[in-house]
Amino acid sequence: MFLECYKGKTVFITGHTGFKGSWLSLWLTSMGANVIGYSLPSVTHPNHFELIRLDMETYLKDIRDLDALKQAIETTQPDIVFHLAAQPLVRYSYNNPIETFETNIMGTANLLEACRGISTIKGVVVITTDKCYENKEWLYGYRENDQLGGYDPYSASKAGAEIVVASYRSSFFNPQNFNQTHQTLIATARSGNVIGGGDWSEDRLIPDMVRAATTDQTVYLRNPNATRPWQHVLEPLGGYLLLGQKLMEGKSEFAEPWNFGPTIDSNKKVSEVLEASKKIWNKVNFEIDDSENHPHEAGLLMLDCSKAYHKLGWKPKWDFQSSVAKTIEWYKLFYESGEILTHHHLREYCEEI
Ligand SMILES: NC(=O)c1ccc[n+]([C@@H]2O[C@H](COP(=O)([O-])OP(=O)(O)OC[C@H]3O[C@@H](n4cnc5c(N)ncnc54)[C@H](O)[C@@H]3O)[C@@H](O)[C@H]2O)c1
Repeated sequence: MFLECYKGKTVFITGHTGFKGSWLSLWLTSMGANVIGYSLPSVTHPNHFELIRLDMETYLKDIRDLDALKQAIETTQPDIVFHLAAQPLVRYSYNNPIETFETNIMGTANLLEACRGISTIKGVVVITTDKCYENKEWLYGYRENDQLGGYDPYSASKAGAEIVVASYRSSFFNPQNFNQTHQTLIATARSGNVIGGGDWSEDRLIPDMVRAATTDQTVYLRNPNATRPWQHVLEPLGGYLLLGQKLMEGKSEFAEPWNFGPTIDSNKKVSEVLEASKKIWNKVNFEIDDSENHPHEAGLLMLDCSKAYHKLGWKPKWDFQSSVAKTIEWYKLFYESGEILTHHHLREYCEEI
């Protein structure tokens, strides 16, 4: 898809030890990019980044440490930056709001500050989330120009990251001054709830379900009717890479926010994800947890991805059923044999028209 454009390029990824960052590191490495990772050490066991055993340069540092971040970027002189490092969990954010705001808002400001004055950097893609929109429980999807907001600290911190990016773009990386006062284009990417093999985070549906299935336990669903845009991890990553390509080509009209979500029929209830999973792996057991003391989470959340379709030519390839099937078959095989399907899924995805 993007073979030539990333070949030989130096790509700086924050959050490479995480679920999405590890898949993105593999994808870029497989295209011949020189990938440099900057993250805290992995916290999950097992960990997908460790399982895929990539030979790449890494900085195990904190994005709240501006000096360390500046030093890493100055030393490596990247062509493009993908910023994924974040505190990404809603429930954790209720217990640790300050850490969440510091990591997601100040971490993003630090990253952009560290990129200032580095003329090799042609593009920065900052990953936020569908949760950055002010949730109105609409039946239709949010567009890129809808109001930002956030009830819980995680969602608010990502809306905050969007505002930081918009400010840095206007003040220091203004597309109107591109190739005059600076050489860098900055975009943000908002995707939906990502599934796929290799996620072992706490308090996420699929990892919780897998942990329960492998220990013969039942997973209890807090919000069975919550509807989310489910998509395989390779879908938004493909969007980020396409966007990064446009920024590296110097197309300043792409220095904007972009939604990368699934088609409308992949907006499914939490309970439907588990039902689809159970059809593939009969060890999946779930029950509804109807106690009432759960923190607030959005009920209905969808993205309108018309802009990415029309301007980037991006659209999802795998529907809800196949995304769930690939995810569950990944974990099933891993727990049965220790093998991972990551490379196989990446190949399949790239080969599909
Ligand atoms: N997984 C999803 O469903 C989803 C959906 C929408 C958006 N996102 C966004 O995608 C990005 C990646 O999410 P993920 O699911 O891979 O999360 P993850 O928890 O698996 O990975 C997070 C990464 O950030 C790093 N990190 C966290 N705090 C850090 C700090 N202070 N300094 C340096 N590194 C730090 C971690 O070490 C890890 O590498 C996040 O920005 C998240 O908000 C995720």
